[in-house]
Amino acid sequence: MHVSRQLTFLTGIVIAAIPLSVSLAQPAKPTMKAIVVREYGGPEVLKYEDTPRPEPKEDQVLVRVIAAGVNPVDDASRSEKYAKFFGITLPFIPGYDIAGVVEKTGAKITKFKAGDRVYAYLDLKDGGGYAEYAVATEVEAAAKPKSISFTEAAGVPVVALTAWQALIDKAKLSAGQTVLIHGGSGGVGSFAIQIAKARGAKVIATASTRNQDMLKQLGADVAVDYTQQKFEDVAKEVDVVLDSVGKDTLARSYGVVKKGGFIVTLVARIDQAELDKHGIRGASLGVEPTSNELAEIGKLIDEKKIRVVVSQTFPLSEAVKAQEQVATGHTRGKIVLKVAEEPK
Ligand SMILES: NC(=O)c1ccc[n+]([C@@H]2O[C@H](COP(=O)([O-])OP(=O)(O)OC[C@H]3O[C@@H](n4cnc5c(N)ncnc54)[C@H](OP(=O)(O)O)[C@@H]3O)[C@@H](O)[C@H]2O)c1
Repeated sequence: MHVSRQLTFLTGIVIAAIPLSVSLAQPAKPTMKAIVVREYGGPEVLKYEDTPRPEPKEDQVLVRVIAAGVNPVDDASRSEKYAKFFGITLPFIPGYDIAGVVEKTGAKITKFKAGDRVYAYLDLKDGGGYAEYAVATEVEAAAKPKSISFTEAAGVPVVALTAWQALIDKAKLSAGQTVLIHGGSGGVGSFAIQIAKARGAKVIATASTRNQDMLKQLGADVAVDYTQQKFEDVAKEVDVVLDSVGKDTLARSYGVVKKGGFIVTLVARIDQAELDKHGIRGASLGVEPTSNELAEIGKLIDEKKIRVVVSQTFPLSEAVKAQEQVATGHTRGKIVLKVAEEPK
């Protein structure tokens, strides 16, 4: 029944000249649970809220998120300095790693259809991963590796792409070369060790005492306990260094690279004077969403050449705890937020 007529029937007078039938009949905008940041600050600014569900643009897919990875950069995005640097504006939903199921596709999408299982690294400016739904472009998303869970898949994109772009795109690591990987037990390091081994390289990796076994299990040929030993005493004349630690570790790393070798840092500006002094090359890396590389990484996972280490999971509502853990700088493998039940 027409709503204004219904009201007349009940009250005996016409109380609404506007066609209420139109406004009330419109479907309510769908909402979702998400972590929303409305002000810069510590982990306490992460609020679990009901918020509008995003609509995919023509070049995006809408993904029903099953799990979202947590990275050190998520922590940085809450600070005004880094938010401005990444082009993030308040309010925003943090989170750059997702695994989920395509719900809907924009008009220009050709690679995916509804129901496809995907994982993605969402651009730093847009984020949106800590939510029940997120949007991704075809450059950001790839088919999820079939052999692992969504929880594991959510721990892959940012760190695996970083390791890949550092070792393969920048340093051109090849079979028979030796690579020193700092922080081998962390997110980036755990993938870097395995990517380097799959490439046929010899791997020297560093971590603290409790993670020495893990370095070996991931395939490192030599494990160095940085709390007990100077890595320079073990790693000499290496072809490539991957630095995810910076400061003194980076400063001491230039000297262990052989002439013509390469050093990549994820956390600092490379020092050209040091490169020149040692006759080596180097670069700082800013990881970029690259779906074809994510697809290559997925293949290596399904071929069992790379495994994903998820050390801890939290429900989406406990994103604060997850980010506090990541902020310690001593995470083993990955921390993942579980957003929904794993589909069968
Ligand atoms: N530029 C980029 O595009 C980019 C991309 C991804 C990540 N990053 C940055 O790279 C860093 C690592 O990221 P992540 O996700 O791998 O972090 P993570 O998961 O927190 O791992 C950090 C690892 O570093 C190890 N570590 C800490 N101090 C160390 C030291 N002095 N020497 C050797 N290892 C040490 C820790 O092992 P122990 O617990 O055994 O000490 C831990 O396993 C972060 O700062 C992140 O922001 C940059």
